[in-house]
Amino acid sequence: MPGDDLLPLQTEAAAAIAAAATLEALEAIRVGLLGKSGAVTALLKQLGALAPEEKKTRGAALNILKTSLTDALAARRETLEAAALTARLTAEKIDISAPPRPEILGAIHPISRTMEEIAAIFGAQNFAIMDGPDIEDDWYNFSALNIPSHHPARAMMDTFYLNASHGNRPAVLRTHTSPVQIRTMLEWARLHGAHAEKPAIRIIVPGRTFRADHDATHSPMFHQCEGLVIGRDITLAHLKGCLIDFLHAFFGRPDLPLRFRASYFPFTEPSMEIDLGWDRKTGEIGGGGDWLEILGSGMVHPNVLANCGIDPREYQGFAFGMGIERLTMLKHGISDLRLFYESDIRWLKHYGFSPLSPAMLHEGF
Ligand code: PHE
Repeated sequence: MPGDDLLPLQTEAAAAIAAAATLEALEAIRVGLLGKSGAVTALLKQLGALAPEEKKTRGAALNILKTSLTDALAARRETLEAAALTARLTAEKIDISAPPRPEILGAIHPISRTMEEIAAIFGAQNFAIMDGPDIEDDWYNFSALNIPSHHPARAMMDTFYLNASHGNRPAVLRTHTSPVQIRTMLEWARLHGAHAEKPAIRIIVPGRTFRADHDATHSPMFHQCEGLVIGRDITLAHLKGCLIDFLHAFFGRPDLPLRFRASYFPFTEPSMEIDLGWDRKTGEIGGGGDWLEILGSGMVHPNVLANCGIDPREYQGFAFGMGIERLTMLKHGISDLRLFYESDIRWLKHYGFSPLSPAMLHEGF
């Protein structure tokens, strides 16, 4: 027990602490008792003037007082803090019981739907799906694809260069999905060695791509799907069969007119672009006597295979790349590409797809 004269102070202080309604009030009480010029502090200061014997008993009494007040303050603080937290949690509660608003129900975006359909069609041909980073360096995006430093293709692609680099290679936003060809072949060669018996690269790569270009048919961010097949005996005939099957299935029209037109890409030789028949005036596909380019393709250039550690005397294959927006616009009669990215719920409601009917090949698209 503290000395008798300390009792009133203790009783009073304990009552004040118990009655403190806020953390601020409690802090004021603490300062009033134990702060620099607090009541208890003042008593402790007087100890120095006492005789040694007296000092001992008085000191012990004051210590007991101080400890009991400190404990009471801490206990009250805990209670007040818990109450404050509860109050805050109640006040900031989010009402998740809000009623559904059918007018803003989402749908599968047509871009996603096209990717799903592409995956389903190539999935049926045993293609695996690969992806790669949006930020590449210029070796993966250009050099490894047989596009040397000063090749005009680098300028043609309106590349976004980043203010950063990977080692000493400039970093770029990938201008096409083709760098994933490189990543896949390198990884395959690493796993199997240059002369593996079982070359089995058969992949598609749907993903985002970037070019500094913006109008009704170009967006700085857009989507492509790459394809790559490597084997000991893969020929141009495989390329043609594979892509004809794909386009007929994707557009749901086995009679869709297609044209393979000789073209140039640094990473394929020979290269071909594929056009489909359409009507320039109505935008309808299938007839009308006009041709619209929709796909780039070709046999993988031997230099590209060699850059990836695959022996071009033993292996060959084909690659292709297509624009997802272009395919989607053609299939669904969408005329302005910018609408894809505006998140207008009315547009999405019109062009979107139900999440409950996923792209399944056996139902046809
Ligand atoms: N990467 C090319 C482009 O973006 C398309 C392509 C891919 C062409 C693969 C041939 C082979 O234009």
